[in-house]
Amino acid sequence: MPSAAISTAAAVLPSRPVPRPGVQAIEAYVPGKAKAAPGVKVHKLSANENPLGPSPKAMAAFHSAEALEFYPDGSSTVLRAAIGAAYGLDPARLVCGTGSDELLMLLAVAFAGPGDEVLYSQYGFLVYRIATLTAGAVPVVAPERDYTSDVDALLAAVTARTRMVFLANPNNPTGTYLPFDEVKRLQRGLPANVLLVLDAAYAEYVRRNDYEAGIELVATCQNVVMLRTFSKIHGLAALRVGWMYGPAEIVDAVNRVRGAFNVSAPGLAAATAAIQDTAHMDAAVAHNEQWLNWLTRELTALGLKVTPSVTNFLLVHFPETAGHTAREADAFLMERGLILRRVDSYGLPGALRLSIGTEVANHALVAALREFLGANHGA
Ligand SMILES: Cc1ncc(COP(=O)(O)O)c(C=O)c1O
Repeated sequence: MPSAAISTAAAVLPSRPVPRPGVQAIEAYVPGKAKAAPGVKVHKLSANENPLGPSPKAMAAFHSAEALEFYPDGSSTVLRAAIGAAYGLDPARLVCGTGSDELLMLLAVAFAGPGDEVLYSQYGFLVYRIATLTAGAVPVVAPERDYTSDVDALLAAVTARTRMVFLANPNNPTGTYLPFDEVKRLQRGLPANVLLVLDAAYAEYVRRNDYEAGIELVATCQNVVMLRTFSKIHGLAALRVGWMYGPAEIVDAVNRVRGAFNVSAPGLAAATAAIQDTAHMDAAVAHNEQWLNWLTRELTALGLKVTPSVTNFLLVHFPETAGHTAREADAFLMERGLILRRVDSYGLPGALRLSIGTEVANHALVAALREFLGANHGA
C-alpha cells in the first residue's frame, strides 16, 4: 500500500477502540438497591420480587441440578415442553432466555439497526432504551396519558423507519395496563413490517376481565411476540430465566443470535418445576391481591397519590413540600431497612415504586410512612 494511503488512514482512525454510536448514550441500568444500614432488618421492596419466594418444588429441582461440569441443554427442550403444556402452546414457537431482559436485547439486535427507529411509551421499562441503543437504533418515545400507554400517541409516532414497538403490559414502573382491545387496535394500526413486542412480565398478577397477555395475537399475527419471565410470580429472579412466544420466523431469528447455552441447568430445572406448581402461583396471586388492595387503601388514606396498579408493585407520588418529598421519604425508609425504588431515571423524581412485600414488610412500610408524613422532616 502506498505510504500516503497509510498516513491518510491513520489520520482518521481513533487511537483506541471506540464503542459503536449509541453505546455512550446508554445510562447503565441501575438495579433496585438491596442493602440498608448495617444491623437493620431489611425489607427489599425495590425489584418486584415475590415475597413468598419460589415454589418448594422449584427449590428442590434447583438443588437436584448436579453434574455442573456439563453444558445445559442449549435448546431448553424440557422447559419449553413444560411451558407449552401449561399454556397450550407449540414448544417449537418458544425460545427461552437469560431472563426476558436478554430476549429484549436479542429482539432489538435482530430486528433493528442504525437508522431504524424503535418506539415505546414515555414511562416504558428502561431496558427498552438500552436495547434500542445497543442495537444502534434510534429510541422514539410516545407520550402517555395518566401514566398509561396511549395507543393513539404510539401510532402517531410511527414513521417509515419504525422497526419495533416495545409495550410492557402491564407496565413497569407505573403498574397500569392496556385492555386487550387496545392492544389489538395498536397491532392493527402498525405496518406489517413493524414488530410488536408484548412484554407481559407481570401478566399473572392481573385480575381484570379485559386483560390478555397476548397469546391470541401472537397466534394470529406475523408481527407480534410475547415475553414472559420466571423472575416475578415464580420467584426465580436469581436464576435469570425468561421466555418468548412468537411466529416461527421470529423464533428462528432469535435462535440465531442468542448464546448457544443461554439458560443454565439449575435455571432450566427450577423453572420447569415452577411452571407446573400452579398452587404456588395461586398463593402468590392471592397474597398479592390482598396486599395490593390493602396498601393502595392505606397509602391513599395517608394522603399519598397512588397510581392504580394491576401488578405486584405500586407507583406512589409524594408531595413537593420540603420534608415530605420522595427523595426524603426514600432516605427515611432506608434508615428503617425499607428499601424502595427511586424512579428519577424514568422522569418521575416525585415518586417511589414499591413492591408488595410480606405482611410484616407491608405493615412496617405503612407505619414508617405514617411517621414520615406526620413529622416535618428538615423543613
Ligand atoms: C416490564 C419488565 N420486563 C422485563 C423485565 C425483565 O425481567 P427478567 O430479565 O428478570 O426476566 C422486567 C424486570 O423488572 C420488567 O419489569
